[in-house]
Amino acid sequence: MNIVVLNGSPKGELSVTLQYVRFAARKFPEHTFTIFPVAQTIRKLEKDEKAFDEVISAVRAADAVLWSFPLYFLLVCSQYKRFIELIFERHAQAAFAGRYTASLSTSIHFFDHTAHNYIHAVCDDLEMRYLGAYSPAMFDLMRKSERNRWLAFMQKFLEGTARQAPSARVYPPLAFPDFTYTPGPAAAPVDAAGKKILIMKDGRQPAGNADALADALAARFGGAAEVVNLMDIDIKGGCLGCCKCGIDNVCDYQGKDGFIDFYNEKVKKAEVVVFAGAIHDRYLSSRWKMFFDRSFFNTHTPTLIGKQIAFLISGPLGQIPNLRQILTAFGEFQESNLAGIVTDESADSTAIDALVAELADALVRPAVPGYAPPMTFLGVGGRRIFRDEVYGMLRFVFQSDHRYYKKHGLYDFPQKNYRVRRMNAFMMLLTKIPSVRKKFLKTLTQEMVKPVKTIAETR
Ligand SMILES: Cc1cc2nc3c(=O)[nH]c(=O)nc-3n(C[C@H](O)[C@H](O)[C@H](O)COP(=O)(O)O)c2cc1C
Repeated sequence: MNIVVLNGSPKGELSVTLQYVRFAARKFPEHTFTIFPVAQTIRKLEKDEKAFDEVISAVRAADAVLWSFPLYFLLVCSQYKRFIELIFERHAQAAFAGRYTASLSTSIHFFDHTAHNYIHAVCDDLEMRYLGAYSPAMFDLMRKSERNRWLAFMQKFLEGTARQAPSARVYPPLAFPDFTYTPGPAAAPVDAAGKKILIMKDGRQPAGNADALADALAARFGGAAEVVNLMDIDIKGGCLGCCKCGIDNVCDYQGKDGFIDFYNEKVKKAEVVVFAGAIHDRYLSSRWKMFFDRSFFNTHTPTLIGKQIAFLISGPLGQIPNLRQILTAFGEFQESNLAGIVTDESADSTAIDALVAELADALVRPAVPGYAPPMTFLGVGGRRIFRDEVYGMLRFVFQSDHRYYKKHGLYDFPQKNYRVRRMNAFMMLLTKIPSVRKKFLKTLTQEMVKPVKTIAETR
């Protein structure tokens, strides 16, 4: 069989993920693997339709397609995202329809599931036959057991393709509402109390109602908010994955375009940061993705701590819980307060006006100043992955993260808690005595609530 591999790493041949593909190709010599570096060559594919058509023709002739990509900022990289947008913009969906497919990523498992959900949904939109996702940690291929596991996945994928295994659509098609938001007459503006408010829109067409939402929110602040169109920022390209920023947060693009200055001077210095955009396929635009990827020059440290943030989204966000999870997670790991997400899904301008007004208020007048909710699994789990990786394998590459984590007490490993360790050792010994164990089990729930109950009753 002929397998077309869509390599989604900006590093092309130097992709770690691609080594999994090369390994599989060696182990299954009866099949041909044709690899296209679509992320690395995205500029060419955008400009040169013949080059793009070459990829599409290969897909059309393939028995199966493998999406092979690194995780970038909870998704695929902006260049790969752009390739996916081109498929739809250039009406090339038919080449993908009916093809068997699977997705492969490498990562540190930080939101790898949201990236695979995204690709799976795109495959469903392309009417492909999706047979599964494979998401190893970056260096898993070094271990024999993991190599075998990967080959088992590939065996299953190839075998499923050969016998035309049935596959069900998991993500229903999206229904985009046909509605134009017309903001009502401006009410008295909210007092921004001198706060720096930044509203960013991506300027990518079709923008749906995203610009109108951004303008309506800006109007609520009566000129106190700065509205920036990302198209007006000189951004030379997507993140290249070179990781040169790891040592001291100096990006390879430093001095070559305007993104870093914009991020440092405008985004980091604002107290309120609003992101406005339309849904393109199952995410925002690739321009937004480029913004998030390029912000990676800050590596694994939060840059929006304590800020009020919000998203203004045009499109069917309610039908894409995966995207809502990504936006929520973003707020959590940035340690900011996600004050709200307003969409145009109600298709009711008056109702949207009310939500925009409420959001404006919440952004500059939170009920309790400086409020940020406690993190959920998204933030807590993500932070622990970062903590372990930066402490471990990634430390020498991401030295500035290491310094930050040390300084800010983020190396909060449980093994450092000597009081709890002593207590555990003592209690484990004690509960070996049958009579103590019996009493322990009998009073466990009372003992568990005791310290919290005391606080609740006395403080
Ligand atoms: C800009 C950037 C963003 C990243 N974002 C994530 C992420 O969200 N989750 C994750 O687990 N790994 C993330 N990574 C790590 C890469 O996914 C990982 O290093 C991957 O193995 C690189 O694969 P490649 O060599 O095929 O490009 C990121 C790396 C870069 C450079």
